[in-house]
Amino acid sequence: MALWGGRFAENTQKCVQDFTQSISYDQRLYKHDIAGSKAHATMLGATGIIPKESAAMICEKLDEIRKKIDAGEMEFKVELEDIHMHIESALTEALGPEGARVHTARSRNDQIALDIRLYLRDEIDGIMELLRGFQKALVKKADANRRTVMPGFTHLQHAQPVLLAHHLLAYVEMFNRDLGRLADARKRINIMPLGSGAIAGTTLPIDRDFVRKQLDFPEMTRNSMDAVADRDFACELLSALSIFCMHVSRLSEDMILWMSQEFSFMTFSDAFCTGSSLMPQKKNPDIAELSRGKTGRVYGDLVALLTICKGLPLTYNRDLQEDKEPLFDALDTVRGILSVYPPMIEGMKVNPEKMLQAASDPGLMATDLAEALVRKGVPFRHAHHKVGALVRFAGEHNKQLNEITLEEMKSVFPEADESMLSLFKPEHSVEGREVFGATGYQAVASQIDYWKANLKLS
Ligand code: ARG
Repeated sequence: MALWGGRFAENTQKCVQDFTQSISYDQRLYKHDIAGSKAHATMLGATGIIPKESAAMICEKLDEIRKKIDAGEMEFKVELEDIHMHIESALTEALGPEGARVHTARSRNDQIALDIRLYLRDEIDGIMELLRGFQKALVKKADANRRTVMPGFTHLQHAQPVLLAHHLLAYVEMFNRDLGRLADARKRINIMPLGSGAIAGTTLPIDRDFVRKQLDFPEMTRNSMDAVADRDFACELLSALSIFCMHVSRLSEDMILWMSQEFSFMTFSDAFCTGSSLMPQKKNPDIAELSRGKTGRVYGDLVALLTICKGLPLTYNRDLQEDKEPLFDALDTVRGILSVYPPMIEGMKVNPEKMLQAASDPGLMATDLAEALVRKGVPFRHAHHKVGALVRFAGEHNKQLNEITLEEMKSVFPEADESMLSLFKPEHSVEGREVFGATGYQAVASQIDYWKANLKLS
């Protein structure tokens, strides 16, 4: 008979057990479940709700159970439904009536709310650390490419010369916002729900603040109904993870394009690429492709959880058990991405000549020419028009912009002078862009220095 089976005359059907169980995936919560139970039992002892000695015995036994699970010696059975029941029944089996005291003033509804919060708090810390590692890998690559000039793109068309370092640091910025979102989600995860009971709290004189302190939560939930029904914090985390994956997916798209034969801007080391089973010459950027693809499943996890929660009346409904698989899947996926991407970036082999060559199309410096005219007092919209006319003139005469003579330029706009002929070098274009946040050598160098200090890179 199940632990909740007092009012049931028959045992549940095996198919029902198989359908309702969550032990196959919530077993990963065991450490957090045990930490929560120890804090709860200690509080029950300290308040005199159960004898102090019972609390001590429970805590000691819980430590043993933890070691047993650590060693893979606990047998998980669907009859015992979930991780809470497994641990409680192991305790009762070992301690008899003393073990049966642990669930005093507690429901699995507030217990699971606590367990997920404890678990996610730890997971977020690990993911944030890995994400900072990703930023470090990008900053190191940027540092090694302070003077590597490449074409910047808008609409995937050549736009203006930029520094590769500038492009890489754009992702460092994105990941920093992701870190901010994770830290923010963590604040709302880091709230202690235990003591809410099934929905309405308890008549027993528990000390919630004691449990809060034991488990190192800065705050506790203020409404027991909200506390057992709420999964906003999980939606919020999945949303932050989805946005992170969106960023990784964009980076992947850049990497896949750059590694193509058409671009040939860079390649990854062999150890981070895979081959084709048929075409012997192939070297494919599968890690980037899979990261782009896995972004889809993380979005799916977010949408799954939002959909699970959307029609639920207050308070706890069993639907909420379905929160775990999307959460675990998204966390595992993101951890997977974070385990391979940073070392792949560190091993990226840049082809600076190719990048420079692609940035050397004089058309990329057309804006520099327009700005030179602005410096001569020409209103920008007029300057834009004049340079446009020069581009047309060059096209008609089958010339590149840097092949146009001073006389020809003067025939299109009289403000032309000698200095304008030397604007068509990509390095020169980069050099002039020293506004804060722009792609100039100094501007980017100071961003690199900023990030090195921020990430404690020497
Ligand atoms: N396994 C359940 C979950 O993950 C625990 C809470 C069950 N509560 C209940 N009243 N059946 O949500």
